[in-house]
Amino acid sequence: MFHKDFLIGAATAAHQVEGNNIHSDLWVMENLPHSTYKEPSLDAVDHYNRYREDIRLMKEAGLNAYRFTIEWARVEPEEGQFEAKEIDHYREKLLYCHEMGITPIVTLHHFSSPFWLTKDGGWENEATVERFANYVAYVIEALGEQIPYICTINEANMGVQITKLIERMKKGAGQGSQVQVGLNTDIQENMMRYFQELGEAFGTDPLNIHEFVSPKTPKGNEIILAAHQRAREVIKAIRPEIKVGITLSLHDNQALPGGEGHVEKAYQEDFHDFLPALQEDDFIGLQNYSRQIFDENGMKPLEETARKTKMGYEFYPEAIGNVVRYVSNYWSKEIMVTENGISTANDEERKEYIERALVGIHDCIKAGIPVSGYMHWSLLDNFEWQLGYSQTFGLIAVDRTTQKRLPKESLYFLGSYKKDVAHEH
Ligand code: BGC
Repeated sequence: MFHKDFLIGAATAAHQVEGNNIHSDLWVMENLPHSTYKEPSLDAVDHYNRYREDIRLMKEAGLNAYRFTIEWARVEPEEGQFEAKEIDHYREKLLYCHEMGITPIVTLHHFSSPFWLTKDGGWENEATVERFANYVAYVIEALGEQIPYICTINEANMGVQITKLIERMKKGAGQGSQVQVGLNTDIQENMMRYFQELGEAFGTDPLNIHEFVSPKTPKGNEIILAAHQRAREVIKAIRPEIKVGITLSLHDNQALPGGEGHVEKAYQEDFHDFLPALQEDDFIGLQNYSRQIFDENGMKPLEETARKTKMGYEFYPEAIGNVVRYVSNYWSKEIMVTENGISTANDEERKEYIERALVGIHDCIKAGIPVSGYMHWSLLDNFEWQLGYSQTFGLIAVDRTTQKRLPKESLYFLGSYKKDVAHEH
């Protein structure tokens, strides 16, 4: 169905699967007595030690690409102190991917940051731009030769979306609004205690704690984009052949009569505002889970009767094709789907989601849009941020008491798209 170079794979993020990301800001937040995290990540699914088994399962199923993170907090646990043994770990992982015929797509920042960075102003501090560049330089010097694709920053627009979500919640419109990530939006009785603990743990006013997944000021958004551009410069200076891009979280925004202005505004804030900084990138990574519908009053709450995923989003696999088509009107270079998937307890439903999503992607390719790959979220059931382990996005289930891998049929279903191609050619 897809051409032979098309990448079909799965994605993970270090903090969600590796386990024991103890030098990260999120580790500290999760472990506070009154944390907003429903549970801490702990050993996660021990992917740090079991990546070989996981990559082998991908290979056996027929996948040919894997998107994963090189975790900043592991590589640089204290500012300027780089851990050679972590670089060795990621080198082995990259080499294993190549050995298995899996193209590695590396993310350099996926939500978690080193504790020391967030303690010192995090993603609202201009110094973060150079600090990120130093880490990137270290990684690329050591590992660049093994990396064909880099996503610098995952969902650079997440802060914009969270800022909007909070505004809507303040207006009492929280129910209809979604952000495509696991946030715990229940009113926390213990919020005051949490903030006090947070301030103590980071040794600063809690209002100065700017982790990546939090509301952003306009300056914060500029810092994220400047960090991306500096990272791209650093990568290109060392290894010009590496393809560099960023990833964006985009809803499929649809208008009912009267809602056109709202759709335009949503795409402006989530996409067009970011475009000028991406002009020299080689590709764009798109991440989508559902759609949003607007009428003249703004975003419409989801109908009670709508088919929903376990995350509460509308089940709407056509969204990804629509997003790719929208973006292609303004972006003519390579497009990669870096995340798309569904949290569900029913694997038949996941197969249906994959099938319908891939029909959309295939139509885009037929229409001449240069889509180079589809990375399903996620390889493994994993730590869905503030929602803990309750969500099941994985192609592989994991029994966390034994860490035993239980591949689902959907893994082989996704791989069959690649196997068909292998037979044709
Ligand atoms: C993030 C993932 C997350 C997924 C599902 C994306 O926003 O990049 O880390 O697990 O959505 O919510």
